[in-house]
Amino acid sequence: MALSTKHLLGIKDLQKEDIELILHTALQFKEVLQRPVKKVPSLRDITIVNLFYENSTRTRISFELAEKRLSADTINFTVSGSSAAKGETLLDTVNNILSMKVDMVVMRHSASGAPHFLSKHIPAAIINAGDGINEHPTQALLDAFSMTEKFGSLKGLKVAIIGDIMHSRVALSNIYLLNKMGAEIMLAGPPTLIPPYIKEAFGVKVTYNLNEALHWCDVANVLRIQLERQNQPLFSSLREYNLSYGIHRNTLEKLGKKIVIMHPGPINRGVELDSDVADGPFSIILHQVENGVAVRMAALYLLSTPNA
Ligand code: CP
Repeated sequence: MALSTKHLLGIKDLQKEDIELILHTALQFKEVLQRPVKKVPSLRDITIVNLFYENSTRTRISFELAEKRLSADTINFTVSGSSAAKGETLLDTVNNILSMKVDMVVMRHSASGAPHFLSKHIPAAIINAGDGINEHPTQALLDAFSMTEKFGSLKGLKVAIIGDIMHSRVALSNIYLLNKMGAEIMLAGPPTLIPPYIKEAFGVKVTYNLNEALHWCDVANVLRIQLERQNQPLFSSLREYNLSYGIHRNTLEKLGKKIVIMHPGPINRGVELDSDVADGPFSIILHQVENGVAVRMAALYLLSTPNA
């Protein structure tokens, strides 16, 4: 089995069968990661550059660990300390790195479409590790893996995506993926953080009432409020956001059913999630992070060996 695509630029470009193949392969790598020796030789002699033009903790470490578990050689690029800080273009930087016999590129960039641009100009396979407010495909895949682990299937699963939909590449990748896999989606948050076109464009439910979303869903995927992407205030204060849209432990306990709480991280504690929810029995946040390594191993493996 092989992926239908040479790059992983977004969930938008994947077939349902591609998603199933990545999740199935990730399950096998998760089994590898439970062994005392967590390393396999699958990517021996493959060299991968992790090109991070924007800050990251989970995604960067997760990719690096996935590459090491697959026995790839890795190099890490961050803007600070590089010649990008002197004005070198993205294409010049990447072509210089590729001339040193690098085979694959994992890339995060603050500009939406940066990995798509790069894919038209270089021969190496590219994995998008988050581009601006566009997509974060491996986050959606690890979210899907985590939900499948918990519920067995995504088909018919009711997933509420809550918070800053407007600025969230995680939201968009999740919407593409959940639609392709037959889940039901409800977006919830303040009207200023939910683009008006999204309901019709993606056939999702929209509510501005948090309680409606929580009563409806099996899973609440809670998003970070991205203040750094807001040019002007889109709600009155963080305190008021927490009162209206923050997830509180007592609200969950009053629902009369158990729902699963997810968050891609980093968390604004006390804003979109209270600490006793983030760290409490409803949360699978650290399982998501754990699953990210197996999912990224699967993506790297399948893209490096097109006929795997
Ligand atoms: N979920 C996520 O992308 O986290 P980082 O920004 O820390 O990589």
